[in-house]
Amino acid sequence: MTTFDVPARVREGAITPISDLDRYREVCARAVHDPDAFWLDVAHQRLAWRKAPTVGLDGSFRTIKDGPLSWFSDGVLNVSESCLDQHLDARGDKVAILWEGDEPGDVRRLTYRELHAEVCKTANALAKLGLQKGERAIIYMGMVPEAAIAMLACARLGAIHSVVFGGFSADALRDRIRDCGAEIVITQDVGLRGGRHIPLKATTDEACAGSPSIQKVLVYKRTDVEVAWTEGRDVWWHEVVDGESPTHEAVPVEAEHPLFVLYTSGSTGRPKGLVHTAGGYLAYTSYTHATVFDLREDDVYACMADVGWITGHSYIVYGPLANGATTFMFESVPTYPDAGRYWDMVARHGVTIFYTAPTAIRALAALGDEHVKKHDRSTLRVLGTVGEPINPEAWRWYYDVVGEGRCNIVDTWWQTETGGVAISPIAPATPTKPGSATLPMPGIFPSLRTPEGDVLRGPAEGLLCLDHPWPGQARTVWGDHERFVSTYFAMVPGAYFTGDGCRRDADGYYWITGRVDDVINVSGHRMGTAEFESAIVSVEEVAEAAVVGFPHPIKGQGVYAYVVAQPRSEIDPKALDAACRAQIGAHAKIDRVQVVPGLPKTRSGKVMRRILRKIAEGRADELGDVSTLADPGVVDAIRDGYRAE
Ligand code: PRX
Repeated sequence: MTTFDVPARVREGAITPISDLDRYREVCARAVHDPDAFWLDVAHQRLAWRKAPTVGLDGSFRTIKDGPLSWFSDGVLNVSESCLDQHLDARGDKVAILWEGDEPGDVRRLTYRELHAEVCKTANALAKLGLQKGERAIIYMGMVPEAAIAMLACARLGAIHSVVFGGFSADALRDRIRDCGAEIVITQDVGLRGGRHIPLKATTDEACAGSPSIQKVLVYKRTDVEVAWTEGRDVWWHEVVDGESPTHEAVPVEAEHPLFVLYTSGSTGRPKGLVHTAGGYLAYTSYTHATVFDLREDDVYACMADVGWITGHSYIVYGPLANGATTFMFESVPTYPDAGRYWDMVARHGVTIFYTAPTAIRALAALGDEHVKKHDRSTLRVLGTVGEPINPEAWRWYYDVVGEGRCNIVDTWWQTETGGVAISPIAPATPTKPGSATLPMPGIFPSLRTPEGDVLRGPAEGLLCLDHPWPGQARTVWGDHERFVSTYFAMVPGAYFTGDGCRRDADGYYWITGRVDDVINVSGHRMGTAEFESAIVSVEEVAEAAVVGFPHPIKGQGVYAYVVAQPRSEIDPKALDAACRAQIGAHAKIDRVQVVPGLPKTRSGKVMRRILRKIAEGRADELGDVSTLADPGVVDAIRDGYRAE
């Protein structure tokens, strides 16, 4: 029984593209003129509603301090119906998830019908394990289809998932379990990446040891590796899911019901659980996915991100599946078994749209063109990048070598908070400039501001803000709305502050210059300097530490740690690394350690990070006036101790 309206677009299998700049301007003008009408149209066209919304935005950035704003508040839907059920008639036999495992050629294909059945079975099993609407489930897995199945099964029950990237440590996992009060963790025995085993179950066990809320651990069996087992708590996926019914009556939820919580790093040590809601998030990711990439019915769309990050949520799982696309999931790494892996997969699977991070592009460019050129890339049409600024050289290599000079490049700027792409070229409409994220999406209104909040007009450089709400934005921080308001809306009352610096050129194109807060972006992974500092100072020999980013040729930014030793103590960099690995995760590596006699501080005791950043960047000659420091001599000592590598 179909209980929702199947949108006209899905019946016809048509997606209206923005094919040129005039059309882009027309659509933008509509969105400026009446944002509510524009976004309601998008929501109606793209999603399968049980009850279609009649209301657009409720609330504003000015009133956000009084409570979260909302979109489509009278709409009712189930996200998994929009991602699965709505496609069954028109594309039941189309491949929904095309997966390639760690070993080349280890391939699985799940059609929309098969994926629907798997999600229903999993939802039935999770319901029997006690998971109900509004409750939280942690997903701590590698890149296997079951990770997406688990996300969709939670959504089908109206439960709220929180995916934790498989590289995070037991400490980090435990913090997230506790913060959102999850009762279940969905994990796997081990993850496979580049021939290595990631001990996901063992790490889950360690995290659960300090997490009394956890009742059940559902374990997908990826390998034959033996894992420790807690009777009564641990349950094998195949034992409870495989025998379940392949149908499940989805639980309808209000548009503003939380779909997921995703933790991200900010300026303080404690990650924030950003809350995304069902209706607005799905409408926005569906719209941006179809528009930015010029999605066509027969595309093979491949995003190389991990579902543990927002890119995996929005542009591997939710956006593509809402659009009935074939979405690729990749378990391994770009250099396994060799540096040609991406292009080998492009050739074997006929990939048409390829989306990755600048750090991967730079790393592969450094390994030589021959790895690219020996594979046929003639199917490629659109190439995307995300996660960090792309330098023009890497952009050109992507365009010339990978794309053979004939593909559209879309440099997509966005954040965990924005839910989906906010500033980006639209293929093929927007003329590109290497290194620029170009123009805002229709319905997104950026402004550049001074630190005082004044709007800068015309060509300018300033703080990037977004001035009007959009459906895909995070609504709040889980359990701490005040923190949401003070992080994003205190700097410029009435506007959302992104944390990024940005330049706008004479053509109105945006060039993101990077974070202006204490967040660093290492290989597209967003990390708080405070998280590193708190791990480093937990090492006994350390008295004080300050961490800053510095330009790194492959990673974009590297991690530079200034460390003050306790009296009569020696610092062992390995101990610092071990602390970061244990408290944050395997992806938290320090690139350089400099032991210093003290940190530059103001007389009131504030560490002058600006000075430390300049020294780490090798720009000590630009320090300016340091005479207001409590102990200016410290700066000379740090400068003298700096060695470029
Ligand atoms: O600094 C910007 C950078 O990544 C930050 C957001 O990180 P995260 O929430 O982890 O989301 C990453 C994937 C969307 C931004 O504040 N960033 C992201 N995309 C770009 C970018 N910087 C420049 N250009 C981009 N295309």
